[in-house]
Parts: sequence; C-alpha cells; structure tokens
Amino acid sequence: MKMADVIIVGSGAAALQLAGCLRKELNVIILTKSSLTTSNSSLAQGGIAAALDPIDHPTFHYQDTLEAGRYHNDPAAVLQLVKQAPAMIKQLMDKGCSLDLHENGTPLLGKEGSHSYHRIVHGGGDQTGRNIIDCLIHQIGRNVQVITQEFVYELMLDKNGACCGVKTKDKTEHIHTYTAPHVVLATGGGGQVYSLTSNSSAATGDGFALGYRAGAELADMEFVQFHPTLIYRNGRTGGLVSEAVRGEGAILVNSRNQAIMKGIHPLKDLAPRHIVSQTIFSHMQAGETIYLDVSAVKNFSERFPTISAACQKNEIDLQNGRIPVAPGCHFSMGGIKTDTFGRTSITGLYAIGEVACTGIHGANRLASNSLLEGLVYGKKLASLLNNMEPQLRTGPVAKVKNSAKTFSIPDPVDLRKRMMKNTGIVRTEHQLLSQIQWLESFNINAWTSEDLSFLSRTQMTAGFMLLTAWLITTSALQRTESRGGHYRIDFPEEKENWRNSHVIKQMMKRDE
Ligand code: SIN
Repeated sequence: MKMADVIIVGSGAAALQLAGCLRKELNVIILTKSSLTTSNSSLAQGGIAAALDPIDHPTFHYQDTLEAGRYHNDPAAVLQLVKQAPAMIKQLMDKGCSLDLHENGTPLLGKEGSHSYHRIVHGGGDQTGRNIIDCLIHQIGRNVQVITQEFVYELMLDKNGACCGVKTKDKTEHIHTYTAPHVVLATGGGGQVYSLTSNSSAATGDGFALGYRAGAELADMEFVQFHPTLIYRNGRTGGLVSEAVRGEGAILVNSRNQAIMKGIHPLKDLAPRHIVSQTIFSHMQAGETIYLDVSAVKNFSERFPTISAACQKNEIDLQNGRIPVAPGCHFSMGGIKTDTFGRTSITGLYAIGEVACTGIHGANRLASNSLLEGLVYGKKLASLLNNMEPQLRTGPVAKVKNSAKTFSIPDPVDLRKRMMKNTGIVRTEHQLLSQIQWLESFNINAWTSEDLSFLSRTQMTAGFMLLTAWLITTSALQRTESRGGHYRIDFPEEKENWRNSHVIKQMMKRDE
C-alpha cells in the first residue's frame, strides 16, 4: 500500500497543472493508465481561448460561451473562467511554453466557431496541446511521483463515505492500493464510446464510471459535443481537422462544390458546432459526401502541420484542396458535478477537466475553452488543497459488494457503433429506448455496484464504457427538448422549463 497527500488520476492539462501548482511539501502521486502524454489534451489542435486582442474583452468571451452553451451554463463559473484566461496565457509564456507569437512577442490569435473575435492562442500551428503538455511536464517537482500503466478501477470510501484512496491494476494485472485524503479525478472524457471520435484511445469514460460507482453526483451527461470535421475515409475517422482551419477561410461543400452552410446560420461555417454537425449529418444521411474545401487557406501545411500529416497518412491529396469529413464525438459537457473549486458531492473526491461538470460549458462547449478550463481548475484546486490543514483518513473502508453476480461483457466495437447510431447526433425516443434495452442486457446492476477485482483491465474498460454509454443514453431519454449537443428529433425545440434544469445521475451510497 502506498500513501500520499494527493492522488491525481489522469495526465491531461488539468492533472499536470494541478500537480505543478501544489505545494512542494505535499506528497503527490499521479496515476495514469497509459503514458504521461496519452490524453485528449495532448491531441488538442486549436488552442486556448483568451480575450487578448485590444478590441476584445472577457465580457465578449463570456457572452460567446453562454451563447454556445445555449444559456444552460453557470454564469458565475463562466465569468471566473474568462476573467482568468489572459493570466493563464501569461503563466504559460512565463514558463517558456512554445506558443506562436507576433514579432513583438504577443500571441498570434486564431478564430474558431462562435467566437466574436480572434482569441485562439496556439502553438506549433496545430500542436498546441502537445506544447502545453510538454511545458507542464517540465514544471512538475520532485514531490510528484508519476506511475504509468496503472489502471484505477475503484475509489475507496471510508466509513463516513469520504474518499480515501483508490485500487488499481498494473499492466501485469496485479492489484495495488493507494491511500490519500484527497483523490482527484482528471481522467478526461469518454469519446471512445462512439465509433466516430476525435478522442485519444484512453478516453473510455473511466472517471464517469468510477464516480458513479462511488455514489458521486453526475449531471448533464446527455450533452455530447460532436465536432463537425473529422477526416473521414471508408467509414472510419483519421483524426481531427481543427475548426481553426475554417477560421482561416475553409468551407464545407458537397461533391458539387456547393457551400452547405450558406443559409443555415448567420455565422455559416463558423456556426456553433452542433449546428454544423447536424447539417453535415443530414447531408450524409441523404447519401452525400461532404468535404472541407481548404483551397482558400494560405500556407496550409505550415499553419497546420499535424492535419497535413494526417491527410498524407490517410492518402488525401491536399493538392485537390478537399478533405472528406464527418462529425464525430469530441467532448462531454456533462460529468461529475463539482463546485468552482472541483469539489464533488463526496468528501475528499475532486474532479477537474473534462470529467467534471462545472457548469462552464452548458449544453455545448465553446471552442478552445477546454484546455483553458483544465488550466484554470488545476490551479484553483491546487490553491484550495495548498491551504488545507494536513488530513488523514483512517479507519475501515466501506466494502464493495461481492455477491458473485455474473458480469456480462459488451463488445466495445459493437457498443461504439450502436452509440453512434442510437445516441448520436440526432436522437429519438425509439432509438434511445432500444439502446437502453441493449445496454441493460449486460447486467448493469453488477457493473454499478459489484467488486470488479477479478476482472481484467480490458474487461473493466469495457464495463466502464458500458456505464458511460448508459449514463449518456438514459440522460438523453429524460431530456425531452433539444439544446446544444443534445438533439431530439421528437422534441426539436429548446424548452424554457429545461434551461438550467439538470438531469442528475447518482447511485445509492455504499453500505458499511
Ligand atoms: C479544434 O481545434 O477544432 C478543437 C478545439 C476545441 O475543441 O476546443
């Protein structure tokens, strides 16, 4: 058994920012199921939103965030976020993070969907996430121990219901126990529950499942963002094409070169993501192939080296100026419900980054607000924990049931396909009910409450994906309106009584 002051599960921007900002006297352990650089943060292309242009202001950033979130956001949390954005950019620059700058040393600002101004700070063209992660890794002190290939499968609760540690399996399937008075989930999202996704292979919804099993409150799981432009070849995705490409003048066209966003929304190709994704989806349903015409983008391969490499890998000739695209799952707006410091409904358990539902993103996240959220909340939670009295959580740990229930394990490939079809960009009651029936055929009750220790990491991952899919689908059935990332064709309008009304998911607390 290993003891620490703070355990951080995950290794994206939120996790590493927290680790770097915690007092050096605190003994910190980072547990990550793969490598330190495998995360959605590392893959992030677009950048970090911050009102830095002299004609811009955090108030405009605030308004754009609420508009994209369809006013389902927590205004106080949004205000805090946008006000801190310029300071986060300064922090990164002070730490020597490689960002793209003007000759005078100020950041070059890109444009993305639903932003009223140029405010996207980027690095290495479209390698922003990787540059930030590299920078954050370098600032981690000797007080932080990083344990890779360590899969967390259980949150331990003490007899008062407070979180006091985690149980893990290493890559050889050996069980380990880590204890700490503060356990932070920074596990990212669950894009891998969909067959089309921009997400890292690590994004299997582990944090949602861990939190739910422990009895934490989750909210807004039905709000899933589908990014409009993933490279699409032979029914498969080949990586993200950043919205910044449309910000530089690219447009979406059909095979006859007709612009498909004309007349759909005043912002055309830079309309909110759910509008663009739903439009592409309806064209694809009618049998059309949709392309991103990048011929108007100057110096494409220098400005977007990652995307150019992905096109080459997928045998897409950029000389033609057209990239075949399809929408795919990109971000989860919902998650473990937290306050503005990352505290969850369970004492000693915190959630930051995509796994958390802070209320910032509302029903749909504004582009480039996610790295920003990770940086702001990593720092905020560090300030909270740095000022706490030393704590110990001792005493008996509440047992997880072991009544030898049989586990039924879904095939992840099948699960992903069915989620895309039934709980995807456009939803109906009929599809959602049939999806729930399928998901529940895998003995959900066992997955929510039984001891998992004897299962393999692969089996547990499939179970966590099942739980994540079930949380999304049952929430989507409950919300009888359409808003942001949740579109019900049988309830196509936003309804006033649903605004700021949250679908909450919470399991009963564990017995003694
Ligand atoms: C993108 O580059 O289009 C993605 C950025 C984001 O999701 O914030």
